[in-house]
Amino acid sequence: MAHYPFHKTGKPWPRNQWYVAAWSHEIETTPLQRKLLGHTIILRRLRNGHISAVSALCPHRRMPLASACIDENDQIVCPYHGATFSGAGHCTSLPFQKHVPDTMHLTAFATAETAPFIWIWEGNASEADMSLLPDIKPLKLSAESTLIFGFGYRHVRARAQIILENLFDESHISFTHTHSLGTRCASDRNPADLAITDQPDYLAFRHASPCRQTEDGMLSLFPSLGQFMQVEYRSELYGVSLINTVGTETFSCREDGTHVALSGCMNFLHGITPETETTTHYFIAATRDFATDSKEYTDILAERNFLVIDEDIRVLEAIEPHLEEAETQPEPNFTTDAAGIRVRRRIETLLEDA
Ligand code: FES
Ligand SMILES: [Fe+2]
Repeated sequence: MAHYPFHKTGKPWPRNQWYVAAWSHEIETTPLQRKLLGHTIILRRLRNGHISAVSALCPHRRMPLASACIDENDQIVCPYHGATFSGAGHCTSLPFQKHVPDTMHLTAFATAETAPFIWIWEGNASEADMSLLPDIKPLKLSAESTLIFGFGYRHVRARAQIILENLFDESHISFTHTHSLGTRCASDRNPADLAITDQPDYLAFRHASPCRQTEDGMLSLFPSLGQFMQVEYRSELYGVSLINTVGTETFSCREDGTHVALSGCMNFLHGITPETETTTHYFIAATRDFATDSKEYTDILAERNFLVIDEDIRVLEAIEPHLEEAETQPEPNFTTDAAGIRVRRRIETLLEDA
C-alpha cells in the first residue's frame, strides 16, 4: 500500500506518539474491545482506577477476551480454558498445569488518562514517553466554568490523515456544510491572514474577525460584552491525534480592536485515531464557558456539530476508495491549503524521524 499522502515514508501514521483511545466514560471494569492503530485491544478500568490495554485474543486458541469474566483478583479469566491474565497481560495461572509457556502472555500497551481522554501509546510500552502526552491544560476542561457536552463517536471509512487535514481546511465550509453552517462567502477567509503558532506538540492557526459593534443578540449569550466585540477562530493540533477547533473566542474590545476581556469561548474537540490504514475512530465533544445552564442551547450546538461532522465524513468516505487509483496523478494545492499542508508536513516529519 502506498500510504497516501505519505508515499515517501511508506508508513501510515507516526509511531511513538500518544493517540486518543477512548473517552474516559466509555471504559469501565468490563472489557471493551477496540481495534486501535492496527491492533485489536481490550481496554478496561482496573480496580485501582488505572486503564489496562492488552491484546484482545488469548494466545492459546485465539479466544477473544472481550467477553471474559474478571476474577476476585482483578484478572481476566479466558472463557475457553480458564487461563488468567493480569492487567499487565501476564498469564498468572493455568487450570491444569503449573508451567506457563513463554508465549502465553498478552501484549500490553501503555495508557494514560487526562479526562475526558484515555490515550494509548503507539510503540513499545516500555518506551512510552509521558513528556509527549499532549498538554491539554489550555483547554480548561476541568475548570468549573467549562461545560463539556455533545459527546459522540463515529467510525469513519477513511484514513485518519485526510480527516486531520480536513479539520484545518476552511475553504470547504461554504460547499460541504451548506445545511449546517450555511454558505459563507468562499473568499471571506484569506489564508494569508492566519497567525501560526508552531511548537513541538502544538500547532495552531488563528484568525480574527474585524472589530464590530456588539449586536443585541450577542448580549444574551455574553452579558459582559461592551460596545464593541471581536471574534477569533483557531484550529489547534495537540500531538498527532487531538484537534481543537475553537469555534469562537469572543472578546469585548475597544473601537480600535484592542481586547478588553474574553467574554466566552466555545471549543469543538476531535479525537482522530487510526483503526486501520483506511479506517478511523472519530471522538467528538464540545465545550463552552457561557450560557452553560441553557440545555436548549446545548442541544442545538451538539446537534449542529454532529451534522457538521457527518457532512465532513460523507465527503471523506467518498474520497477514500479512490486514493490508491489516483496515486500517480499529481495533486495540485490551492493557497487555501496552506494550513492543511503544514499539518501534513508535520506528520511526515514525525514519520521520517520514527
Ligand atoms: S483459548 Fe484461552 S486458555 Fe485456551
Ligand atoms: Fe468540515
